[in-house]
Amino acid sequence: MAKQEDVFKKVVSHAKEYGFIFPSSEIYDGLSAIYDYGQNGAELKNNIKQYWWKAMVQMNENIVGIDSAIFMHPTIWKASGHVDAFNDPLIDNKDSKKRFRADVLLEDYCAKLEDKAQKEIEKAAKRFGDSFNEEEFVSTNPRVLEYRQKQKTILERLAKSLTNNDLADVKSLIEELEIADPDTGSKNWTEVRQFNLMFGTKLGAASESATDLYLRPETAQGIFVNYLNVQKTSRHKLPFGIAQIGKAFRNEIVARQFIFRMREFEQMEMQYFVPPGTELTFYEEWKQKRLNWHLALGLGNENYKFHDHEKLAHYANAAADIEFKFPFGFKELEGIHSRTDFDLSAHEKFSGKKLQYFDNERNESYVPYVVETSVGLDRLFLAIFSNSLKDEVLEDGSERTVLSLPPALAPVKAAILPLMKKDGLGEYAEKIFDDLKFDFNLIYEEKDSIGKRYRRNDAIGTPFCITIDHDSLVDNTVTIRDRDTMKQERVAVADLRRIIDEKVNFRTLLSQI
Ligand code: GAP
Repeated sequence: MAKQEDVFKKVVSHAKEYGFIFPSSEIYDGLSAIYDYGQNGAELKNNIKQYWWKAMVQMNENIVGIDSAIFMHPTIWKASGHVDAFNDPLIDNKDSKKRFRADVLLEDYCAKLEDKAQKEIEKAAKRFGDSFNEEEFVSTNPRVLEYRQKQKTILERLAKSLTNNDLADVKSLIEELEIADPDTGSKNWTEVRQFNLMFGTKLGAASESATDLYLRPETAQGIFVNYLNVQKTSRHKLPFGIAQIGKAFRNEIVARQFIFRMREFEQMEMQYFVPPGTELTFYEEWKQKRLNWHLALGLGNENYKFHDHEKLAHYANAAADIEFKFPFGFKELEGIHSRTDFDLSAHEKFSGKKLQYFDNERNESYVPYVVETSVGLDRLFLAIFSNSLKDEVLEDGSERTVLSLPPALAPVKAAILPLMKKDGLGEYAEKIFDDLKFDFNLIYEEKDSIGKRYRRNDAIGTPFCITIDHDSLVDNTVTIRDRDTMKQERVAVADLRRIIDEKVNFRTLLSQI
């Protein structure tokens, strides 16, 4: 089995074993691509939301946050283009009866070509050592050039076929490249068809009068239809932004890779309303701001890259993804889109209500343009979780598994561990717990050896373990152990709040953006 798959398997099993993520409805054998967050997962997820909300809403004077309903008027999805164009091209394998996204089969083929190019580069880097000039190598090596040119040709043809809705050509491309079902090797494919990703449901009790609704496939439309309400009540001038965190639903054709692609997931989106003609400047600005926000997490700058879109969605005049190096390769984490005035203009047309802004400086009314930043909360969770999970061999040869989460995001900030329950140690530890619980999420554990308790807390990413022993009763000091360095220090109980806070406070994280 490939190493990448081993790493990913470990991520999935660790998430389950330590109460982060469970398959939904597991006792009924689960539901495909739906997951529940357990006690530690819910905390980590909430902390990620806080990091986003504080950076987006609290730290930007001209951005406000809302919470709109999941159910929305069905005409909204007609106006937004989702009824007609929110499709994925699907293809079935006639032998395995498995369903695939035709574009993903082609993109995966290109990713393999890129892997081959990377291997050539790595080989050359080893061969030439310090004198290796990567830039020169990639622009002259015939094999690297060939792999890259082939990818470019395929992706350009795919983008053109999808734009022209030429699905027969997408199938021809799959056949020409002899792409097979990755699991069975069969090349016996059906035609490529479009498949709408929205889930439908009904509003109302009587079947004859019930209205057809959709579960929202993005949170953004809840922002657009509230644009005027928010602008008027907040009295913000352009440019200003509206942010929202909430659930979205998509009937994904291929929903593998754990919480990377789910059918029910959460998005953290922000729409930035700007005067027409300025949108591309703000688009570049937000690309950089969002990248900086990710980099501040300290997961490694080399794990992020931009991918500028060749094929633009029906609403965009520029778009890019921030990609992250997941255990299965670089994939989209966040999208930044310049959405023009498409959405607001469409809602004006379909609702018959004016959604204009009067610009005092320009002395004119217009429909604002929009730059959007949209990140999947679950995908971000997976990025942070998988990157933080490490197996370490210690100096004495023993091993530990540690989840080195950014401390502000850790589900539990400190574990309060009396060496034993008796001799008054339990009571003393409970007092410390009761004092610190107003500031931090803590756990109290008195079972098992201290070593085992340390390991359990390392595995859920607890930044500090605080051990109470007999000396604590005499001199009011405890041992505090740092998750990452494993160093233990004797400190006064009175200093605990300050020591923990310095490390886990959101300020420490936010000030690095
Ligand atoms: N409002 C724009 C929009 O929804 P998108 O690129 O379709 O754009 C934005 O989605 C982000 O939402 C993606 O970058 C990804 O992080 C997340 N996302 C999309 N589909 C997802 C799914 N099925 N499961 C988990 N996250 C998803």
